[in-house]
This record gives sequence, structure tokens and C-alpha cells, in this order.
Amino acid sequence: MPTEITSSIAALRARLEPVRRAGAAIGFVPTMGALHDGHASLIQRAREDCGHVVVSIFVNPLQFDRREDLQGYPRTMDADLALCASLGVETVFAPREGEMYPRPPACTVDVGGMADHLCGRYRPGHFRGVATVVLKLFQIVQANRAYFGEKDAQQLAIIRRLVSDFNIPVVIVGMPTVREADGLALSSRNRRLSPEERKEAPVLFRALDAARSRIEGGERDANAIRRHAVALVPSHRTLEYFEIVDPETMQPVTRVDGPVLVAGAIWIGSTRLIDNAPATPPE
Ligand code: PAF
Repeated sequence: MPTEITSSIAALRARLEPVRRAGAAIGFVPTMGALHDGHASLIQRAREDCGHVVVSIFVNPLQFDRREDLQGYPRTMDADLALCASLGVETVFAPREGEMYPRPPACTVDVGGMADHLCGRYRPGHFRGVATVVLKLFQIVQANRAYFGEKDAQQLAIIRRLVSDFNIPVVIVGMPTVREADGLALSSRNRRLSPEERKEAPVLFRALDAARSRIEGGERDANAIRRHAVALVPSHRTLEYFEIVDPETMQPVTRVDGPVLVAGAIWIGSTRLIDNAPATPPE
């Protein structure tokens, strides 16, 4: 089936209705475009699991706290559509802003304390915007399964909680972060890095990996783990945060007594990169 591109909610619903009636599972990969191999891995998994794959491409203004970030977000629609076609995606949903938000929403999703730390602390309103658009997309697509990358671990935890709190009948599938050979997590934002910045960018991955090794080696004091890891970041780079949190609630821990998530955000020039490492201490 050739890839169909639709920008209208009504047309998308009309296309998916017979698919659902025929009993095919619908797999959904929500994206903001600028697709890379990380997105490709989500689409491939959806392709394996489901009879009909829907990819949405929508740069959601509600989740940007800075206008420059929204305006500068990479937009590569032709390449995105070519990738979707090459991976056998049946439907691309690429709505305009007016289709998703015909008027500013009066009702939004408040994610509470799960957004108090990590990215939520530095990007006020970001996760309200993410949860609101994801809830809307879930209502529009009504997929059986939806696929998200573990690189955005706080987002994934919040979406799992959203689905549980609102009894949304969709299975959330988290997929491992795809990395370059030097450890840098794939991100749409990587394309903004200059060649010099690109060389330095894996420093966040190395610091996270060092923290993970310490935890797996038996160190339990979160402050000590953090101090050692942060020392690996050169002083001319701004580490926005580097925290060790509970992987479900996203609340910081002082002692590592079970599985945790080590997560960080760094500014490389004018580009903000995030990454994380799950870690489990020895018995
Ligand atoms: O991860 C993203 O690309 C976005 O936050 C998402 C989930 C598509 C919502 O806009």
C-alpha cells in the first residue's frame, strides 16, 4: 500500500475506520519530523508489530518554552516522507497548527510533580504541552500501540502515566536509544552542531556512562556519583542538570537502593542536548 499523507483529522479518521473494522492493529509513531535512525527504529518496530502504521509529523508549539527554539526546530518534510515511504508506513498524518489547535486550548494536561525535575524544571510548561498534544493525538489516531524513544525518558514516563491515569486503551512501547559510534544519542537537534561541537557532544554520554558504572560497581551515595561524573564535563560547557532519579516518578534519590535513571542536559554552543542512562545497583 503506498504511503498516504493527510493533514486533516476527518480524512485520517475516515482512512483508519475500515482498517480498524478489518481487525488490523494500528501502530502509531508520534514525531515532530526531522526523522533520523532513532525514529526509523520506532517505525520498524511498529511495522513488525502492527498491520497498519501511522506516523504523525507535527512540530507542537505548545511544548516550546522559547520562540527561537520553535522557529529554529529543524523541518525536513520531503526527507521525512521519503523515509516513511521506504519503511512501508501506510499513513503519515501531518496537520497544520490550525487543524490541531483551531483555537488556543482551554483544557490542558497538568502533569504535576513528574515535571518538577530534569527537563521539566528548566522548560516550564514543556510537559504540559507534550502531554496535551499526545492525548489529542491518541484521541485522533486511536492506535492499538504507540512507540516512543527511551532517550526522552521523562517524556516516556509521563506518557505511561498519562495512559494509566486517563485509562487510554493503547499499549506504550519504549525503544532503546540509538547512538552514534562515539555514544552520542541520535537527536533531531544534532544537525545544528558545528563540526567542532559535534566532536565534543558525546561528553554527556561519557558522564552518564561513568555514573552508571559507579552505580553498577556498588556506589550508593547519589551526591558522590554525581560529583565524579560531572567532573568529566569541561568547564566551558554548561551542564543544565545532571540528576539521579526514580525511573517511574522522576523524583531525585539521595541513595541508590534500586533501579534508577541518571539523566542530564548539556548546552553545546546554542544547542541543548539531553541523554540518560538507566542503572541498577548490585544485589
Ligand atoms: O518526542 C517528540 O518528538 C514529541 O515530544 C512528541 C511526543 C511527538 C509530542 O510532540
